[in-house]
Amino acid sequence: MRMKLLGLSLAAVLSASLVGCTKKSDTGAGADASAKGSQVGIVGNEILVGEYGSFTGSEATFGQSTSNGLKMAIEEKNKAGGVKGKQLKLISLDNQGKAEEAAAAVTRLINQNGVIAVIGEVASSRTLAAAPIAQSNKIPLISPSSTNPRVTEIGDYIFRVCFIDPFQGTVMAKFATDNLKAKKVAILRDVKSDYSVGLADYFIAKYKELGGEIVADESYQAGEMDFKAQLTQLRAKKPDAIFVPGYYTEVGLIARQARQLGITAPLLGGDGWDSSKLYEIGGQAINGSYFSNHYTTESTDPVVVDFIKKYKERYNGVVPDGLAALGYDAGRVLIEAMDRTSELTPKNIRDEVAKTKDFVGVTGRITMDDKRNANKPAVVVKVDGTTNRFVTTIAP
Ligand code: PHE
Repeated sequence: MRMKLLGLSLAAVLSASLVGCTKKSDTGAGADASAKGSQVGIVGNEILVGEYGSFTGSEATFGQSTSNGLKMAIEEKNKAGGVKGKQLKLISLDNQGKAEEAAAAVTRLINQNGVIAVIGEVASSRTLAAAPIAQSNKIPLISPSSTNPRVTEIGDYIFRVCFIDPFQGTVMAKFATDNLKAKKVAILRDVKSDYSVGLADYFIAKYKELGGEIVADESYQAGEMDFKAQLTQLRAKKPDAIFVPGYYTEVGLIARQARQLGITAPLLGGDGWDSSKLYEIGGQAINGSYFSNHYTTESTDPVVVDFIKKYKERYNGVVPDGLAALGYDAGRVLIEAMDRTSELTPKNIRDEVAKTKDFVGVTGRITMDDKRNANKPAVVVKVDGTTNRFVTTIAP
């Protein structure tokens, strides 16, 4: 049964919507785990871990990179003997980058597959849509990379291993002020994205506090392809920089159209730019722009160097992006929490994830604070051809 679900995203989505209509299981145990005498998330010699992500659609690299990192963490643990002698089994469901499908996927992972814990999502809007289901079923959920503050406010079973946007907004506001000496900044935000709206607001608050002026605040909606009207408005205000806290597909197109309109000001962004596709879509137009991120591949930290080496060996020479690193870290935080439990139950795992302290991650040291967030430094990188060059690190 479980085997058949793997990879059948369309079928999975269809039946997930059906499952979504059925009564929620009281224990969170699903079809596989509800057999007499079995525990939630454990079937025979296997521990079931769920993952939901955008494996297809305009944010496909987010889901794919995260999954690659997570798989690596799981494979390493299984090779080393697994958790309490049991092998970890990852069940991955595609949500095509859609919030409704994210909710359906988590419903399915919990009620149908009977997973013990869930990893995902990347995009804040999708985690916000899906995490309430994990919370109400009391199944721990760790987002590797959703940075909107509201994500972990959903409840005590919801965690993340990344920094949050009030910090990320501050990082880029400081960078614009101190490093770029920008006096006037224009904003172009995706009003459909909780991440983009929040990050724009946090950036603006800090940038004004530092004495800067916001000369325009324009918007778009993910999926749009023509940004010329908004860019023409921005151009008239002669900004020193343009802050575009969106995802790579739209950002690449925005960069191209900005340059076509003769705008030469650097574009600034956040972690949502982090994709090898950014350069494919943005081309030369994105060159010289800056964004904040979770790690740099130029780090000489042995933990990072070792991770990059292993990842490249495992994935045909591909250099891991920030999401691959966060997927790996999220997986390892979960695995180590499982190791520390006296008995593998969702509640015990939740309690141990909450106690995570000074965990040495690829993306920095991870300590869960009392709001289930991780306080970590951010890096600012500059787009340089098909790579990102490290510029600076900014600590919380
Ligand atoms: N932080 C983004 C969000 O919350 C997601 C993201 C993280 C995208 C890291 C790319 C890299 O929506």
